[in-house]
Amino acid sequence: MKNIIIKRINADETRGLRKKLLRPTQPNEKLFYYGDDFEDTYHAGAFDDNLLVGIASVCRENKSQSTGSPVFINNKENIQGIINKNKPNDNTPKSWRLRGMAVENEYRRNNIGSKLLEACIEHIKKENGKHLWFNARLVAVEFYKTFGFEITSDIFEIEDIGPHYNMEKLI
Ligand SMILES: CC(C)(COP(=O)(O)OP(=O)(O)OC[C@H]1O[C@@H](n2cnc3c(N)ncnc32)[C@H](O)[C@@H]1OP(=O)(O)O)[C@@H](O)C(=O)NCCC(=O)NCCS
Repeated sequence: MKNIIIKRINADETRGLRKKLLRPTQPNEKLFYYGDDFEDTYHAGAFDDNLLVGIASVCRENKSQSTGSPVFINNKENIQGIINKNKPNDNTPKSWRLRGMAVENEYRRNNIGSKLLEACIEHIKKENGKHLWFNARLVAVEFYKTFGFEITSDIFEIEDIGPHYNMEKLI
């Protein structure tokens, strides 16, 4: 492994690793995520030379759009309330969702996932986002905790993938 470079990629470039590492048994239409082609969506790719070895995507999406459930953090305040309190009439979502985070097996535990997530968070900050949330696979929970994300749901099952938690934090 040489120096790993993180670069912005397009949605089509994510699909090979999404299939291989995240959804190997699912039909190809499941590799197309909500928001993939929004102008401000960011897809990060980790490259070892020209080889794509890791991916992560973030798009603007309120948590309630997807889950319909209220959002709470430690102090039990409503995150949307915190996010919108300075601009109550601003309808632009300040929440972003992380999806499709994966690193090739033999490249794991080399800080590549961290670099991808850092690049995503940098992008969100530039876009004035304030909150990042996602459905975390059980196997990835410890990784996300190293970034200070907190579990904010009971465990739930996503069909054909397995058990997940919601995780989130203000950024
Ligand atoms: C989750 C994933 C992206 C992490 O990528 P990675 O490049 O291995 O992560 P990093 O090397 O940046 O890990 C940073 C820290 O997170 C923690 N961490 C990462 N993977 C971990 C694991 N499997 N178990 C426990 N802690 C882990 C460690 O503290 C690690 O630091 P260390 O290696 O110095 O101990 C990778 O394991 C993966 O692709 N998993 C399969 C796909 C998946 O489940 N994606 C998440 C979907 S929600």
